Amino acid sequence: MLKIKSQFFRLVLVAMIVGGLGCGSMSQHVRSLGSAVSAPDIDVKTFGQTADGRQVRLYSLCNANGLKADIMTYGAIVVSLQAPDRKGRMDDIVLGYDNLQDYIKNSPYFGAIVGRYGNRIAKGKFTLDGTEYTLATNNNNLNHLHGGIQGFDKVVWDDRPVRRADAVGVQLSYWSKDGEEGYPGNLKATVTYLLTNRNELRIEYEATTDKATPVNLTHHGYFNLTGGERDILGHVLTLNADTFTPVDEGLIPTGEITPVKSTPMDFTKPTEIGARIAGECQQLKFGGGYDHNWVLNRTGRGMTLAARVYEPTTGRIMEIRTTEPAIQFYSGNFLDGTITGKEGKVYEHRWGFCLETQHYPDSPNKPDFPSTILRPGEKYQTTTIYRFSTK
Ligand code: GLA
Repeated sequence: MLKIKSQFFRLVLVAMIVGGLGCGSMSQHVRSLGSAVSAPDIDVKTFGQTADGRQVRLYSLCNANGLKADIMTYGAIVVSLQAPDRKGRMDDIVLGYDNLQDYIKNSPYFGAIVGRYGNRIAKGKFTLDGTEYTLATNNNNLNHLHGGIQGFDKVVWDDRPVRRADAVGVQLSYWSKDGEEGYPGNLKATVTYLLTNRNELRIEYEATTDKATPVNLTHHGYFNLTGGERDILGHVLTLNADTFTPVDEGLIPTGEITPVKSTPMDFTKPTEIGARIAGECQQLKFGGGYDHNWVLNRTGRGMTLAARVYEPTTGRIMEIRTTEPAIQFYSGNFLDGTITGKEGKVYEHRWGFCLETQHYPDSPNKPDFPSTILRPGEKYQTTTIYRFSTK
């Protein structure tokens, strides 16, 4: 009797330790006892169903240090991301909803992959190889935004789990048909999310097409490194960018590339997001805050540091590296307290910020910007890494 009892308590104790440090549900870990205490883990469950009856799955990823990410097949959305603060306390550091239906009903691209073209294309029109294409003007009936009415953030992606030596993940694929949302060509897009044991969320993007088409895929996560305790104005941001692309009142780039020096757009040194956001600046007026594209300082191709964010109260740090030429920094200006998100939290003005690695907005209409055109036989391939640490 005594033996059975002590065995039971030992099991409970081990399960508690594993539950605290490692991944997934307790039962899973009891099953895998004997292996490493915090073995990386992938758990898959049904998250819900779309109106047309498609099953949506939720992948729960956990790395060797207990960092966790929940990713669903609808919109390739990162539903939650749990990271430790300087005392080891885990918090969810991205905005979103608790259930699928809320995402479907009304989401300002929370955590999604946006495509076929992230950000705006002026008047929803572009000409490619002599043909003019017309896209939805889903942004104030004026411009095309984030891929249109049913962009990549509103479709169900195919999925398969991925295991690599130092990471667990999910590979999501979507076949965007020729003519979908007005874009030419059948586009096969693949996005692989990996949670590495270096505490990174790594996103690998790939695409191929059978007709020339613009492609600009990005991740539209809303971060709040306090764990959603307050607005994001106290976060300290550094952007590795000496120039940005100024916009007109419709947030379309004018075509210029302007130095940030001596303007509120200068984040070359660590600066609080809120320090200059309310100042007299036409660009900030147009955006209702920051909603602009910064051109990254680069010496060549390959991975470069794009941004670093430090949140002083929790000590959390997020560093972004990318192969992309630019980054959109959006300070959550359209959040206004009308959305109630996870665990009943009201998302007030500037409750989250986005840092979207990308090509410049409206590139299909700006011949001087780096090209976003993918042609048959070519492979679109970009990588962005979000690395989490504390100080
Ligand atoms: C991007 C755009 C913003 C806004 C948000 C989502 O960052 O640049 O203007 O559309 O997405 O609301």
